[in-house]
Amino acid sequence: MLFLISAGPTREKIDPIRFISNHSSGKMGYALAAAAKATGGEVVLISGPTQLTPPENITVVQVESAAEMAEAVHRHAPEADIIIMAAAVADYRPVKTFSEKMKKTPGNLMLELERTEDILMNLGKHKRPNQKLVGFAAETNDVVEHAIEKLKKKNLDWIIANDVSRKDRGFGSDHNAVTMISANGDICEVALSDKKTVARRIIRKILQG
Ligand code: CTP
Repeated sequence: MLFLISAGPTREKIDPIRFISNHSSGKMGYALAAAAKATGGEVVLISGPTQLTPPENITVVQVESAAEMAEAVHRHAPEADIIIMAAAVADYRPVKTFSEKMKKTPGNLMLELERTEDILMNLGKHKRPNQKLVGFAAETNDVVEHAIEKLKKKNLDWIIANDVSRKDRGFGSDHNAVTMISANGDICEVALSDKKTVARRIIRKILQG
């Protein structure tokens, strides 16, 4: 059983010293990689920049931008049995990256952004029979409704919804509480606990369902 798991944020370069990113710590994705490895599976972890030490005996590919993450994920996806996109991939990147440090000038600065690839959406379009595709939905309101929309739109088997408006869980925290929703209509609540416990429950449920 080969698990392909993405984790952490991406960085979209503005110039050699500046970038656009987000507060993802990578903890949930790394905990999922460890939990997947503990089931006896093989794991490929595609990681954006984090402060974390990856679990032992897995394959780790370190990337920075959404484009690099897309390339690494698509390279490994054909052999993967279960793909879990836990990374907080940037939706936009600067249209132009400056090769020298940008100097300030008087007045405001407009930064034009363009969409990055929606990696999960493309994985959904090319999903193999028997391949399970799992996404995360970070929401601040109407969590389950928005998650179900993403499950359908991206052709997923499971969506894992978390409420990122809560300070005690999710982004950056050591804890999480999630609602898992399957394409078959199963709904499973994973109560607030440390991310390692939440990860074990998520992996168990995906392997069952
Ligand atoms: N995702 C991805 N590629 C992107 C953006 C997101 O693969 N460019 C994946 C994430 O890894 C996650 C899922 O899509 O598993 C949902 O991400 P989220 O940001 O919650 O949703 P979006 O589809 O970007 O929708 P929106 O920002 O409008 O809520």
